[in-house]
Amino acid sequence: MAERTLSIIKPDAVAKNKIGEIYRRFEDAGLQIVGARMMHLSREQAEQFYAVHSERGFFNELVSFMISGPVMVQVLEGENAITKNRDLMGATNPAEAEAGTIRADFAESIDANAVHGSDAAETAANEIEFFFGDDGVCPR
Ligand code: CMP
Repeated sequence: MAERTLSIIKPDAVAKNKIGEIYRRFEDAGLQIVGARMMHLSREQAEQFYAVHSERGFFNELVSFMISGPVMVQVLEGENAITKNRDLMGATNPAEAEAGTIRADFAESIDANAVHGSDAAETAANEIEFFFGDDGVCPR
């Protein structure tokens, strides 16, 4: 089933100039980029985006990291896009990520872990709405 997912290339991977390499992996896996924007998130935006984690011990560090530099935000579309993107990303903790995944190849730590991807259909819809609203996505 064709579906959409929200992907963020985090400040660490943007700083390492890995946007193109990561986009190549999405496209080689059959995912199409149907919306994209580069942004430097405000603290409020990052807190709102990660509100589900607000009670977690890592929340402040996560927010501080996500506002430490620009991020690249995109909507990926394709067959099983949510799972496919999560497979490409690898485990949240790069130390546990399988070889050849984005996090194994580019991430340094569980905070600076290169990418974010929606974990389910409902979160994907909410996260796409959060960054793109009704505009900015270009179906092909
Ligand atoms: P992400 O997929 O963006 O979703 C929440 C982020 O919190 C996660 O990636 C990690 O970068 C970060 N994080 C930091 N510590 C933890 C932890 N113990 N468990 C899960 N996520 C964590």
